[in-house]
Amino acid sequence: MKNSSQKFLALLSGALLFTATLSANLAFADENPAPADASLLPVYQQFGEKAGLVAIVDDLMVNLVTDIRTRAFFADADQKHIKLELVDQFCVILGGPCTYTGKTMHESHKKLAINEADFNALVEDLQLAMNKHNVPFRAQNKLLEKLAPMHREVITKP
Ligand code: HEM
Repeated sequence: MKNSSQKFLALLSGALLFTATLSANLAFADENPAPADASLLPVYQQFGEKAGLVAIVDDLMVNLVTDIRTRAFFADADQKHIKLELVDQFCVILGGPCTYTGKTMHESHKKLAINEADFNALVEDLQLAMNKHNVPFRAQNKLLEKLAPMHREVITKP
């Protein structure tokens, strides 16, 4: 009998410890909303961390404004602002220590009449920029697979 009540106590303290750890982690997550997926941190490092993302997004914008398929969208836009937001967004997506404070994807693209071909063109321009900065192929795909579902918010034209 003593044995089983000891077992019960051990189980109970185990459960309490688990709950305490869980709530501590949740409190931590509340204060630090940035890491979307901490397991991606090595990928963030393969992108060259924040400085790497700044360089990649700079080249992405050069590609977008020279690409005949996309340049009309960006010609009169605030390119500097878009780049800052993109860096933060990619950083958060890759589990880096950043915070995205920009608009939602729906809000920022709803008036642009973007179609599937436009979306694919941007992805190609991003791939060119990532290749230029020697981001390993598998790391590139990690970012792309997180961006792909955003087509639902970005594409508004059949
Ligand atoms: C997964 C794909 C995409 C992502 C992650 C993305 C991300 C962003 C971000 C973070 C912003 C800034 C939001 C803000 O101002 O707070 C933005 C704005 C913008 N994006 Fe995208 N974008 C995507 C696809 C596209 C495509 C395909 C086009 C056109 C070919 C495009 C054109 C623009 C333009 C023109 C703006 C500026 C809008 C304005 O003036 O307010 N985006 N995008």
